[in-house]
Amino acid sequence: MFDYTGKVVAITGASSGIGKAIARAFYEAGASLALCSRSAERVRAATSEFAGDDDPRVRVFEADTSVVSDITAFRDMTVSAYGGIDVWVNNAGIEHPMPTVEMTEAIFDQVVNTNFRGYYFGCQAAAQDMLRRGTGGCIVNIGSVNAVTVVVQQAVYAGTKAAISQITKSFAREWARDGIRVNCVAPGSVPTRINEAKYRDPAAHRAMCEKIPMGRRGETREIADHAAMSVAAYPACGVG
Ligand SMILES: NC(=O)c1ccc[n+]([C@@H]2O[C@H](COP(=O)([O-])OP(=O)(O)OC[C@H]3O[C@@H](n4cnc5c(N)ncnc54)[C@H](OP(=O)(O)O)[C@@H]3O)[C@@H](O)[C@H]2O)c1
Repeated sequence: MFDYTGKVVAITGASSGIGKAIARAFYEAGASLALCSRSAERVRAATSEFAGDDDPRVRVFEADTSVVSDITAFRDMTVSAYGGIDVWVNNAGIEHPMPTVEMTEAIFDQVVNTNFRGYYFGCQAAAQDMLRRGTGGCIVNIGSVNAVTVVVQQAVYAGTKAAISQITKSFAREWARDGIRVNCVAPGSVPTRINEAKYRDPAAHRAMCEKIPMGRRGETREIADHAAMSVAAYPACGVG
């Protein structure tokens, strides 16, 4: 569907779910990948489903995106491996549904640091490389419908996703004249590890499906195609 031959795509949180599907979609479109999660081993296991061992188009790194120095190290290792970054996908995310009165500072920080801080500094790290090389590029932030809908006991997660939506718009304007496009893909409910426990109960799964106009939850591949499409939309920016 797309041709990203020769393009370098960096993706955070590529060891499972949506991140793994995005990695696969760009790989099948010919791109070279730099992938990370908190476990290089888990990312390697994920990529073995679509790429061989020692594939020169797949580089795997360990990085905790709640830690800014890990994000810049991931960016720097990608640049030294491939020379630069054309597309950066902020995808690594966590949720921690719980009654608000029980929320602790440690859990709050973990969610905010991964979902908001990690995306903010991920955008910064990518833009620093794109601005330095003057080539433009694309940044894709995986947000959520929870940025605009209300799910009780998910206030922190929803707050981070609303923040992602806002920084996406802010950065898109800040870097527009530098040829860097920043977009947000905001999935609805998609079966992945993040919500596996919540929907193990068939009644909860059914209730969610009933709320969705199409009557079903999304598929990781559908979200991946949207991410790839948001990059392809404006080839004048040097990507796609
Ligand atoms: N599934 C849905 O219904 C849904 C809906 C809307 C938005 N989203 C968003 O989609 C994104 C991907 O989630 P998913 O549904 O695919 O869930 P998932 O299968 O749990 O994937 C989350 C990914 O993030 C990585 N990760 C988590 N914390 C990290 C950290 N601190 N540093 C680096 N990597 C980290 C995980 O890898 P390791 O554990 O190996 O580190 C994993 O690869 C998230 O931003 C999520 O909010 C999901």
